[in-house]
Amino acid sequence: MADIETYDDIVKLVDTFYQKVVKDPTLGPAFNDVAQVDWPNHLPRMYQFWETVIFSKPGYKGNPAVIHSQLRDKMEAQGHQLTLAHFDYWIDLFQATVDELFVGKRADQAKRSAYQMGRGLTVHLYDANNFFVLRQK
Ligand code: HEM
Repeated sequence: MADIETYDDIVKLVDTFYQKVVKDPTLGPAFNDVAQVDWPNHLPRMYQFWETVIFSKPGYKGNPAVIHSQLRDKMEAQGHQLTLAHFDYWIDLFQATVDELFVGKRADQAKRSAYQMGRGLTVHLYDANNFFVLRQK
Protein backbone atom coordinates (compact mmCIF):
# COMPACT_ATOMS: atom_id res chain seq x y z
CA MET A 1 0.00 0.00 0.00
CA ALA A 2 1.25 3.49 -0.86
CA ASP A 3 0.88 6.94 0.66
CA ILE A 4 -1.42 9.71 -0.58
CA GLU A 5 0.63 11.15 -3.47
CA THR A 6 -1.65 12.75 -6.04
CA TYR A 7 -4.90 14.59 -6.59
CA ASP A 8 -6.39 11.30 -7.84
CA ASP A 9 -5.55 9.73 -4.49
CA ILE A 10 -7.56 12.46 -2.77
CA VAL A 11 -10.48 11.85 -5.12
CA LYS A 12 -10.32 8.14 -4.29
CA LEU A 13 -10.22 8.79 -0.54
CA VAL A 14 -13.08 11.30 -0.59
CA ASP A 15 -15.27 9.22 -2.93
CA THR A 16 -14.75 6.05 -0.89
CA PHE A 17 -15.52 7.87 2.34
CA TYR A 18 -18.77 9.47 1.14
CA GLN A 19 -19.92 6.21 -0.48
CA LYS A 20 -19.85 4.85 3.07
CA VAL A 21 -21.43 7.97 4.57
CA VAL A 22 -24.53 7.92 2.37
CA LYS A 23 -25.25 4.30 3.29
CA ASP A 24 -24.47 4.74 6.95
CA PRO A 25 -27.44 4.73 9.34
CA THR A 26 -25.75 7.15 11.78
CA LEU A 27 -24.39 9.74 9.34
CA GLY A 28 -26.54 9.17 6.25
CA PRO A 29 -29.71 11.00 7.34
CA ALA A 30 -27.87 14.31 7.90
CA PHE A 31 -26.57 14.22 4.34
CA ASN A 32 -29.47 12.54 2.54
CA ASP A 33 -32.53 13.85 4.35
CA VAL A 34 -31.59 17.08 6.11
CA ALA A 35 -28.91 18.74 3.95
CA GLN A 36 -30.04 16.87 0.83
CA VAL A 37 -26.50 17.23 -0.36
CA ASP A 38 -25.87 18.15 -3.96
CA TRP A 39 -23.03 15.64 -4.49
CA PRO A 40 -21.71 16.97 -7.81
CA ASN A 41 -21.16 20.24 -5.95
CA HIS A 42 -20.09 18.89 -2.56
CA LEU A 43 -17.50 16.33 -3.70
CA PRO A 44 -15.30 18.78 -5.63
CA ARG A 45 -15.36 21.10 -2.59
CA MET A 46 -14.17 18.21 -0.46
CA TYR A 47 -11.40 17.35 -2.95
CA GLN A 48 -10.32 20.96 -2.70
CA PHE A 49 -10.57 20.98 1.08
CA TRP A 50 -8.34 17.91 1.42
CA GLU A 51 -5.92 19.17 -1.23
CA THR A 52 -5.48 22.28 0.85
CA VAL A 53 -5.05 20.27 4.05
CA ILE A 54 -2.78 17.52 2.71
CA PHE A 55 -0.77 19.25 -0.01
CA SER A 56 -0.98 22.79 1.42
CA LYS A 57 -2.39 23.85 -1.93
CA PRO A 58 -4.44 27.01 -1.57
CA GLY A 59 -7.91 26.61 -3.04
CA TYR A 60 -10.46 25.69 -0.43
CA LYS A 61 -12.46 28.65 0.74
CA GLY A 62 -15.27 27.96 3.07
CA ASN A 63 -16.39 28.11 6.64
CA PRO A 64 -16.99 24.63 8.04
CA ALA A 65 -17.81 26.00 11.51
CA VAL A 66 -20.71 28.02 10.13
CA ILE A 67 -21.86 25.21 7.83
CA HIS A 68 -21.98 22.65 10.63
CA SER A 69 -23.66 24.98 13.06
CA GLN A 70 -26.36 25.72 10.45
CA LEU A 71 -26.64 21.97 9.92
CA ARG A 72 -27.14 21.41 13.63
CA ASP A 73 -29.91 24.02 13.72
CA LYS A 74 -31.58 22.57 10.66
CA MET A 75 -31.44 19.07 12.09
CA GLU A 76 -32.96 20.20 15.35
CA ALA A 77 -35.72 22.04 13.51
CA GLN A 78 -36.56 18.77 11.76
CA GLY A 79 -36.60 16.67 14.91
CA HIS A 80 -33.12 15.15 14.43
CA GLN A 81 -30.04 15.81 16.46
CA LEU A 82 -26.44 16.47 15.57
CA THR A 83 -24.39 15.31 18.51
CA LEU A 84 -20.81 14.83 19.61
CA ALA A 85 -21.27 11.14 18.85
CA HIS A 86 -21.79 11.96 15.17
CA PHE A 87 -18.48 13.77 15.02
CA ASP A 88 -16.71 11.01 16.92
CA TYR A 89 -18.13 8.46 14.54
CA TRP A 90 -17.33 10.56 11.43
CA ILE A 91 -13.70 10.69 12.52
CA ASP A 92 -13.57 6.91 13.09
CA LEU A 93 -15.08 6.20 9.69
CA PHE A 94 -12.75 8.65 7.94
CA GLN A 95 -9.67 7.26 9.66
CA ALA A 96 -10.71 3.68 8.87
CA THR A 97 -11.13 4.69 5.20
CA VAL A 98 -7.63 6.20 5.11
CA ASP A 99 -6.21 3.00 6.64
CA GLU A 100 -8.03 0.88 4.11
CA LEU A 101 -6.46 2.73 1.15
CA PHE A 102 -3.17 4.36 2.15
CA VAL A 103 -0.20 4.14 4.45
CA GLY A 104 2.48 6.74 5.15
CA LYS A 105 3.17 10.26 6.36
CA ARG A 106 0.41 11.97 4.42
CA ALA A 107 -2.07 9.27 5.38
CA ASP A 108 -1.17 9.88 9.02
CA GLN A 109 -1.51 13.61 8.50
CA ALA A 110 -4.94 13.18 6.91
CA LYS A 111 -6.10 11.18 9.93
CA ARG A 112 -4.68 13.73 12.34
CA SER A 113 -6.23 16.63 10.46
CA ALA A 114 -9.64 14.97 10.45
CA TYR A 115 -9.39 14.51 14.17
CA GLN A 116 -8.23 18.09 14.79
CA MET A 117 -10.90 19.56 12.59
CA GLY A 118 -13.60 17.40 14.18
CA ARG A 119 -12.37 18.48 17.55
CA GLY A 120 -12.33 22.13 16.50
CA LEU A 121 -15.87 21.89 15.18
CA THR A 122 -17.19 20.27 18.32
CA VAL A 123 -15.45 22.77 20.56
CA HIS A 124 -17.20 25.43 18.54
CA LEU A 125 -20.57 23.66 18.61
CA TYR A 126 -20.68 22.05 22.03
CA ASP A 127 -17.81 23.53 24.03
CA ALA A 128 -16.59 19.93 24.12
CA ASN A 129 -12.86 20.29 24.50
CA ASN A 130 -12.61 17.89 27.41
CA PHE A 131 -14.22 15.06 25.55
CA PHE A 132 -11.60 15.16 22.82
CA VAL A 133 -8.67 15.79 25.11
CA LEU A 134 -9.62 12.56 26.84
CA ARG A 135 -9.98 10.74 23.56
CA GLN A 136 -6.44 11.75 22.42
CA LYS A 137 -6.31 10.33 18.92
C1 HEM B 1 -15.68 15.40 12.16
C2 HEM B 1 -15.11 15.96 11.16
C3 HEM B 1 -15.77 16.65 9.99
C4 HEM B 1 -15.07 17.31 9.04
C5 HEM B 1 -13.54 17.41 8.94
C6 HEM B 1 -16.05 17.86 8.11
C7 HEM B 1 -15.71 18.64 7.02
C8 HEM B 1 -16.60 19.27 6.20
C9 HEM B 1 -16.26 20.24 5.18
C10 HEM B 1 -14.84 20.74 4.88
C11 HEM B 1 -17.40 20.62 4.56
C12 HEM B 1 -17.52 21.54 3.35
C13 HEM B 1 -17.85 22.90 3.68
C14 HEM B 1 -17.93 23.73 2.42
O1 HEM B 1 -18.73 23.43 1.51
O2 HEM B 1 -17.15 24.69 2.33
C15 HEM B 1 -18.50 19.90 5.20
C16 HEM B 1 -19.82 20.03 4.86
C17 HEM B 1 -20.81 19.27 5.40
N1 HEM B 1 -20.70 18.40 6.45
FE1 HEM B 1 -19.04 17.98 7.49
N2 HEM B 1 -17.31 17.52 8.49
C18 HEM B 1 -17.21 16.78 9.64
C19 HEM B 1 -18.27 16.22 10.34
C20 HEM B 1 -19.56 16.18 9.91
C21 HEM B 1 -20.65 15.46 10.54
C22 HEM B 1 -20.54 14.67 11.85
C23 HEM B 1 -21.76 15.65 9.77
C24 HEM B 1 -23.15 15.12 9.94
C25 HEM B 1 -23.48 14.02 10.57
C26 HEM B 1 -21.38 16.49 8.66
C27 HEM B 1 -22.22 16.90 7.64
C28 HEM B 1 -21.91 17.80 6.66
C29 HEM B 1 -22.86 18.31 5.69
C30 HEM B 1 -24.31 17.89 5.57
C31 HEM B 1 -22.19 19.26 4.91
C32 HEM B 1 -22.77 20.15 3.83
C33 HEM B 1 -22.76 19.51 2.52
C34 HEM B 1 -23.41 20.34 1.45
O3 HEM B 1 -24.55 20.78 1.65
O4 HEM B 1 -22.79 20.52 0.40
N3 HEM B 1 -20.05 16.79 8.77
N4 HEM B 1 -17.97 19.09 6.19
